Amino acid sequence: MAKKIYNWGILGPGRIAKKFASALALTTDSRLYGVASRDKVRAQDFAQTFKAEKYYSDYLSLIQDPLVDVIYIATPHAYHFELAKACLENNKPVLSEKPLTLDAKQTQILLTLSQNKQVFLMEALWTRFIPMTVSILENVQSGILGELRYVKADFGFPAPFDPAGRLFNPSLGGGSLLDVGIYPLFLCSLLLGTPESITAVGRLSEAQIDLDCQAVLQYSDNKTAYIGSSIHYQMPITAEITGTKGQIMIPCPWYKNDHYQLKTEDKDWEIVQLGALTNGFEYEINEVTTSLNQGLIQSTKWPVTSSLQLASLMDQIKQQLGVQYPDANNT
Ligand SMILES: NC(=O)c1ccc[n+]([C@@H]2O[C@H](COP(=O)([O-])OP(=O)(O)OC[C@H]3O[C@@H](n4cnc5c(N)ncnc54)[C@H](OP(=O)(O)O)[C@@H]3O)[C@@H](O)[C@H]2O)c1
Repeated sequence: MAKKIYNWGILGPGRIAKKFASALALTTDSRLYGVASRDKVRAQDFAQTFKAEKYYSDYLSLIQDPLVDVIYIATPHAYHFELAKACLENNKPVLSEKPLTLDAKQTQILLTLSQNKQVFLMEALWTRFIPMTVSILENVQSGILGELRYVKADFGFPAPFDPAGRLFNPSLGGGSLLDVGIYPLFLCSLLLGTPESITAVGRLSEAQIDLDCQAVLQYSDNKTAYIGSSIHYQMPITAEITGTKGQIMIPCPWYKNDHYQLKTEDKDWEIVQLGALTNGFEYEINEVTTSLNQGLIQSTKWPVTSSLQLASLMDQIKQQLGVQYPDANNT
């Protein structure tokens, strides 16, 4: 039987969509078929640059095109929910940029819809699929670090202040936690599961989005995690994973690194070098098509239930910080 080549459609040809379109070209069973923008010229330009067959001047036309097999949502966070919902309602498999939605309530609605319609849904948490994360998870699960005790990770950078831009604008889902804090929180979730308690502090902007955030997560069996995020100062962007018998240190930028340092009980520090990461998004794209080929409606490596757990953690942190998004209240 001939191999299925998936026709991808992209919603929102912005910064990250360009990287995604380049990654599609690195895969063997995916191709960029169409792109939709609110602006016809922007869609046309993107289609020409990345050699897409079709372009559309509204998102729904792409969603309803019967030749589109799977859709990547690359808009600001606040639009992920309504666009993913429209895709699922039109029986289109979805890969949505992180965070999947603004809160757990929205994620639950999408999860239920995906299950009812039996249509694939995944959050584009690309770090989950890169070789570094796969290798770390294997080492942790092998037990060479002993019992995990402590995970520490951060992600922060000084973004130029733009009150209308997606990082600072509450109506676009602005704030450090949803944009970059999600990465360290993801690592803690992946390695330690669900915490028993979270204590968070952070500094809010005038518009009441979090400019930075620090949180301590406490788990059963004496496990602790510390995460930090910022969009107004640089953070180390490193991660540490400590067990009773060993330790892993992932240097900057930990969330997309191709190597890490490993220390186990009887040995000195060693560098675990993986293949060079070129684009990096091809791994999540392959996860989507592999799942679709198997008839799955969720990834086994990053299921929507994990996105839901992450959204619930972020809800607890946002509540402690006093961050509330206008759209999320009306779901
Ligand atoms: N995985 C990663 O490494 C990574 C990195 C950066 C960002 N992201 C995620 O990707 C998403 C998009 O980020 P980005 O930096 O690419 O955003 P961006 O360039 O600011 O915007 C992406 C596109 O969204 C569309 N859009 C729709 N409604 C909009 C509105 N009201 N205001 C502004 N744009 C709107 C625009 O396309 P049209 O107007 O042409 O339709 C725009 O080009 C975010 O959710 C972010 O978390 C992921």
